Amino acid sequence: MKTIAIFGSGNGTNAQNICNHFKYSKEIKVVLLCTNKKTSTIVSRLKKYSVPSFVFSKQELNNSNLVIEKLKTFKVDYIILAGFLLKIPKSVIDLFENKIINIHPSLLPKYGGKGMYGENVHRNVIANKEKESGVSVHFVNNNYDEGVIIQQEKCLLCEDETVSSLTEKIQFLEHKYFPSIIEKIITK
Ligand code: GAR
Repeated sequence: MKTIAIFGSGNGTNAQNICNHFKYSKEIKVVLLCTNKKTSTIVSRLKKYSVPSFVFSKQELNNSNLVIEKLKTFKVDYIILAGFLLKIPKSVIDLFENKIINIHPSLLPKYGGKGMYGENVHRNVIANKEKESGVSVHFVNNNYDEGVIIQQEKCLLCEDETVSSLTEKIQFLEHKYFPSIIEKIITK
């Protein structure tokens, strides 16, 4: 059995989808939610799966061993970033080499980097009149959104695309592909 900790700061639809996917799995178990936002929806969404949540500040993440200690206590094998806003510190990346997986709502390397998060990405994609967008699942390294890409899935934009219609298309792809990509990597 391999264990996953999900890191998230927001709505938590991907986190919930991942929990659903692995609910009855004999190979992968979600053992911990790590968040810097105590009141975010992700915390309430994961309560019904009995996944314990660990809340920490940006300061604690960057300047203490609290998060690493918690990951060790829960014997975490892989970290999944599902809408996590803070940069993962080098100490955690070194400990989990090629074991941290992120989902990003664009076709990286386009629309990646600091500040490129959620709807902000879609706003830029539409403003630049892109014909397509999509999702990228990638390993996490020390630079925002620059780790090795594991898989990308695309969608087409229409002429009257809005942030909300593009959000829907991207979310559809994320929910359809993310859990099985995680599964493929962990059980390979
Ligand atoms: C997702 O669209 C994910 O790709 C994006 O945040 C959203 C979280 O949604 N992540 C990034 O933008 C990372 N740079 P959720 O909280 O409903 O899963």
